[in-house]
Amino acid sequence: MRKQIVAGNWKMNNDLEASKSLVKKIAKGLKKEKLKNTRVIVAPTFVSLAKVANKAKGTKVEVAAQNMHFEKSGAFTGEVSAEMLKSVGVKIVILGHSERREYFGETDAMLAKKVDAALANKMEIIFCFGEVLEDRKSNKHFDIVESQIRNGLFHLEASAWDSIILAYEPVWAIGTGETASPDQAQEMHAFIRKIVADEFNDDIAENVSILYGGSVNPGNAKEIFSKEDVDGGLIGGAALNAENFITLAKSF
Ligand code: PGA
Repeated sequence: MRKQIVAGNWKMNNDLEASKSLVKKIAKGLKKEKLKNTRVIVAPTFVSLAKVANKAKGTKVEVAAQNMHFEKSGAFTGEVSAEMLKSVGVKIVILGHSERREYFGETDAMLAKKVDAALANKMEIIFCFGEVLEDRKSNKHFDIVESQIRNGLFHLEASAWDSIILAYEPVWAIGTGETASPDQAQEMHAFIRKIVADEFNDDIAENVSILYGGSVNPGNAKEIFSKEDVDGGLIGGAALNAENFITLAKSF
């Protein structure tokens, strides 16, 4: 049975103290909860990762990085490698977030290399993709999503899919307060599962968790998560508040 997941992408928010305090509150709030088949992940900034990972040890909270470079080490000012993430106990990485693609020029080709580097280090990947508003208006959203997934992930061996979590995030819904409707999310998620089944097999498609991201909050999560092919959410704004995030983790 595939896992349900809520992942909080803290983006460029929270200094070290705020990050430690937030993970502590989330872990405490979830301590007595029976999160059946549900994983809870938070992704702080690089400066807070080591401390947050340490605080999360032995709790129900797992910790992810928001990005990484594909090289192991070297003259890449400002970058962090998979090996370095692992050295502070981080085994999950978000790759391909639309903000990375849009503001930092990350291409499908770069992302494919990052995917390979993460897998070579036995890390799990939350792989993000999604169309911009113009794509949806011109009815190109399925093609765009397919090409992002194809270019980033379809070179993989079937066995690699155990380490892949997919996150569909329509760019027009990120941080805008406008969510895709539960039916729009379901429609895209079913499409994604189908292309994975066609390229690989039904088993992989059935077992891969597909998260929805874009203005998910405690008021709309239950309905979105109730859709057959929606296995949880990648949450930005609402993940910065412990109470909201805990509510989201209990929204299945
Ligand atoms: P949002 O961000 O929940 O603030 O829309 C989601 C994301 O970018 O992952």
